[in-house]
Amino acid sequence: MEIVLSGIRSTGNLHLGNYFGAMQNFVKMQEENKCFFFIADYHSLTTHPTPENLLESTKQVLVEYLAVGIDPEKCTLYRQSDIPEITELYLLLNMNVYLGELERCTTFKDKARQQPNNINAGLLTYPVLMAADILIHRALKVPVGKDQEQHLEMTRNFATRFNRLYKVDYFPEPTAYNFGKDLIKIPGLDGSGKMGKSEGNAINLADEPEVIRKKVMKAVTDSGPTSPNQEMADSIKNLFTILKVVSTPETVNYFNEKYNDCSIRYGDFKKQLAEDIISVTTPIREKIIELKSNNEYLRKVISMGAEKARESASKTIKEVREIIGFKSF
Ligand code: TYM
Repeated sequence: MEIVLSGIRSTGNLHLGNYFGAMQNFVKMQEENKCFFFIADYHSLTTHPTPENLLESTKQVLVEYLAVGIDPEKCTLYRQSDIPEITELYLLLNMNVYLGELERCTTFKDKARQQPNNINAGLLTYPVLMAADILIHRALKVPVGKDQEQHLEMTRNFATRFNRLYKVDYFPEPTAYNFGKDLIKIPGLDGSGKMGKSEGNAINLADEPEVIRKKVMKAVTDSGPTSPNQEMADSIKNLFTILKVVSTPETVNYFNEKYNDCSIRYGDFKKQLAEDIISVTTPIREKIIELKSNNEYLRKVISMGAEKARESASKTIKEVREIIGFKSF
């Protein structure tokens, strides 16, 4: 039984990338491991949400966690901002993290490009807060998509550096929880990079079937193959990547062959893709609707989660303070 930890930022509805990158095995994971699943609401502050938006998106992520089948009795499901020990560990780790390595972090460089008027210190130290999230429970396995690989590597560096500095073997070196051979990257529908919450290229778990059909039909394609076995454009490869996670291997082979002999009709391809996405999202969407109005249950879940998470977090912080030298006179 291993300690598994997963975090999701509360910045909007969850999409297929979140689901297939990190959440698809949550139900099985919670049976086999000691699982901590949390809503990273502090992390969402880097983009300055309004107080109403902050609460709304935190609630949305909570509902979506539950809707994919998490059982709060079997795991610890909590909100980051309910656990003050995380911020304390964040402060302590920060003393042993260097400006150069934070500035070199790819996600920092990307964000700085995306929001040039708001390159705040929280953005710079984002990987340290993430390391604190993981190390506060001394987690060993972290289910994440490909985009979080570098953050995990930084967490390992911070953990081993702490151990070396204080000559202890305290923090483990957490690694990604792999679903297959490689970490997953679900592309967006716009023919470019990954599916993301703020890129406008996502299919959300809560989207109505009609919305999904419209989004898929509008996805970027090319003018079609003109010679057998022609190399696929990125936009077409992307749609096949999504098809592979939602459809059967037979369906994928069928459209692959059609592409290779130049008889593919993108309209049919997209229709099939949309229907197979809808099959995956429908049970989740129905659960989301059912849970969303059940405030009393959500309140119970969040307060139970806070209590369980703090129990584990306060044990770690007590030990860390001892190691660093905060001892009583
Ligand atoms: P966030 O909220 O951006 O994404 C949550 C999870 O979904 C994965 N993901 C994807 N996987 C594959 N393809 C995609 N297109 C895609 N988009 C998102 C992410 O890799 C992630 O696993 N920094 C984290 C939140 C966090 C965290 C943590 C995660 C804070 N502390 C501690 C793990 C451990 C984030 O922004 O995730």
